Amino acid sequence: GRVAVFMGGDSAEREVSLNSGAAVVSALQSAGVDAFGVDVRGCLLKAVENPQFDRVFIALHGRGGEDGTLQAILAQAGLPYTGSEVLASALAMDKLRSKYVFEGCNLPTPRFRAMGAVEEADDVLAALRAPLSVKPSREGSSIGIRKVSTREELVAAYEEASQHDSLVLVEEWIEGPEFTVSVLQGRALPAIGLSTDHEFYDYDAKYLANDTQYRIPCGLAPEQEVELQRLAVEAFQVIGCRTWGRVDVMQDRDGQFWLLEVNTSPGMTDHSLVPMAARAAGISFEELVVRILKDTLG
Ligand code: DAL
Ligand code: MG
Repeated sequence: GRVAVFMGGDSAEREVSLNSGAAVVSALQSAGVDAFGVDVRGCLLKAVENPQFDRVFIALHGRGGEDGTLQAILAQAGLPYTGSEVLASALAMDKLRSKYVFEGCNLPTPRFRAMGAVEEADDVLAALRAPLSVKPSREGSSIGIRKVSTREELVAAYEEASQHDSLVLVEEWIEGPEFTVSVLQGRALPAIGLSTDHEFYDYDAKYLANDTQYRIPCGLAPEQEVELQRLAVEAFQVIGCRTWGRVDVMQDRDGQFWLLEVNTSPGMTDHSLVPMAARAAGISFEELVVRILKDTLG
């Protein structure tokens, strides 16, 4: 049947998604799949009315496309789609609630507080050890994230984060290194180590800078990488994800791993992390998208 690759959309990660979608369309086509791209900007509901396709490959990032909204629409329309279903998509998009689940399952995640108003700054500073990371709970690509140490910085960062989401998460900063583990069909792919000259792996380091370093093999001792991969798969499972995703993890100076979040529709440009990990496991980009697509058949 025909496959529509949903991309673009209305989220803050629209530009990233257009790149992911274009890469997915061309890979599916070279694999012989009858696929075409659809920019769903402003037309999520319309896009599934009288569909001229049988399945959807979701290459959308962020709210609307990655957070369960689209997944519910497609389920109602009876259209099979790639990746996680409604609950896992919504939960993974929400970093704060993901952390409640990690904690409830005894999985390590940096200590945190939800922050709902500027007036809570003193309580947050008393409860957590600075430096802190201030994040809109439901956003992607590090948009709106700031590292803070003082009350003044916290207030400014809160104000910025709350422009992206009414829900703001403050967590203890882990210096890193940062790792990311891709999960495909329930199994971890080789971990990637990330380093950047930026303060952290922010939007610019992700998409604009050319000095960001990706280590694969990741540089950990084999038994440590296995521990990291096991943690990533557990995180993927407790959130309830399906088929594929990418789990972001920090390692502290003592070697302990700390879960940041799970991404259910990670970047798929040809220089993105999941394709990089797949390649290291001998899986071409074409094979990767075909495997993700095939899982929609149930
Ligand atoms: N949110 C971006 C697309 C990622 O996780 O790759
Ligand atoms: Mg994310």
